[in-house]
Amino acid sequence: MSGMDATAPRQATDAQREVSYCDVVERLTLMLASESDPVLVMATVACELHHAFDYYDWTGFYRVVGDRSLSVGPYQGTHGCLHIPFDRGVCGAAATTMTTQLVPDVHAFEGHIACSSSTRSEIVVPVCRPTGELLAVLDVDSDDPASFNAVDQRWLELLADRLGRWMTPAAS
Ligand code: SME
Repeated sequence: MSGMDATAPRQATDAQREVSYCDVVERLTLMLASESDPVLVMATVACELHHAFDYYDWTGFYRVVGDRSLSVGPYQGTHGCLHIPFDRGVCGAAATTMTTQLVPDVHAFEGHIACSSSTRSEIVVPVCRPTGELLAVLDVDSDDPASFNAVDQRWLELLADRLGRWMTPAAS
């Protein structure tokens, strides 16, 4: 990076967010474009994102396991709940609707699961294979209200799209 710190502070401007996402996505693409191990991919994405944004207080994945059920995957932050059914919480809503959930105030979201009482806002993005099969959700929680905006959503959706490709082995 030249002249600008790539770590986005709390209350980051859109320009600061753009710089940080661009940097992280570029770095992850270099590291992961020829990887396909799901744990390796999810762990590396969680780590790189978590340390690039000061307003990310919990960053990680819930994986689709069994019938309409999610289990925690690689993450950074304090203890995450182990299992989330599809009909519960923000993660469950993202998995059920297969759409991003941008929640500025978790207390106003009925059914929110408070793994940490300090969480105030969050964004959850589905991760799907190119065929459309849901693999996991990427969950980012912040201790500040309304931390995430359309810039976060656009970049995290772009990253989720790449993740779905990286986690899908090429047909032999
Ligand atoms: N935020 C989630 C629960 C998982 S944790 O907060 C790590 C939800 O309500 O779906």
